[in-house]
Amino acid sequence: MKVACTEKSQVLASKLAKALEIPLIHTQFKSFPDGEIYLRNGDPDEETVIVAGFAGSDSLVQTLLLIDACEGSDVTLVLPYMGYARQDKKFNPGEPVSARAMAAALSRGVSRVLTVNIHESTVLGHFTVPATDVTLAPEIGAHIATLGLENPLILGPDGGAATFARDVAAAGGWEADHLTKTRLSGEEVRIAPKEVAVQDRDVVIVDDIISTGGTLATAAGMLREQGAASVRAACVHGVFASAGYARLAAAGLEAVMASDTIESAASAYTAADAIARALR
Ligand code: R5P
Repeated sequence: MKVACTEKSQVLASKLAKALEIPLIHTQFKSFPDGEIYLRNGDPDEETVIVAGFAGSDSLVQTLLLIDACEGSDVTLVLPYMGYARQDKKFNPGEPVSARAMAAALSRGVSRVLTVNIHESTVLGHFTVPATDVTLAPEIGAHIATLGLENPLILGPDGGAATFARDVAAAGGWEADHLTKTRLSGEEVRIAPKEVAVQDRDVVIVDDIISTGGTLATAAGMLREQGAASVRAACVHGVFASAGYARLAAAGLEAVMASDTIESAASAYTAADAIARALR
């Protein structure tokens, strides 16, 4: 078995190859003069694990080309971050179910798919090959444990993230809760934990995705007003669209942490070990 990867997942793929103690294939990526993507893969093995995080169209094309270049190999496609997964239904007439379109395209030529904290588990059903999801909640919990916080409060930003928050908190035996939004007037909303008071607590808000950071910046400001000693954010997928990282830093968060499902300077913990465990 060997590991191959798209350009955006080269660090994660290297760590995964190391964890699995198997070779990493070097793939050459270039563009044709007209902008079309070219790649040339090293020798695949009988079994190949392709690590293909994609957030943009170029990485999607690289993924499709890489799968094709591994023709003849039994391919496991690892999608650390699956782009387009958030458009998982038609919210308005005339829209595509983008997650379904992507899953169908990415199923061709692969035997199985592995995702990491996919936004909605129903998306797995759109692949035409077996697809499973792994969670980084234990990794995030283990990282929080290294921060030296005494009895941190782990908060999900909404009810949908409550289970994730509980799973992260389980790593350290900490308290978990989730935020609720109460409309006070036409213009005013109050965001506060459902049950646990934040006064003098070190709070870590955990979420699957930080995109623009808008959700967390607003929540963090309100938690500080309610007396939180500190507010940090930890997510699986750090998209940081529209300067989302800077937005959170400007909002006074003590730390903004993400995994390497999208590789960036904010990558504080790796998905490699969880993926390796699932592949074994
Ligand atoms: C929503 O369901 C997701 O879990 C995230 O809370 C959301 O994607 C965050 O978006 P943003 O960072 O743009 O507020």
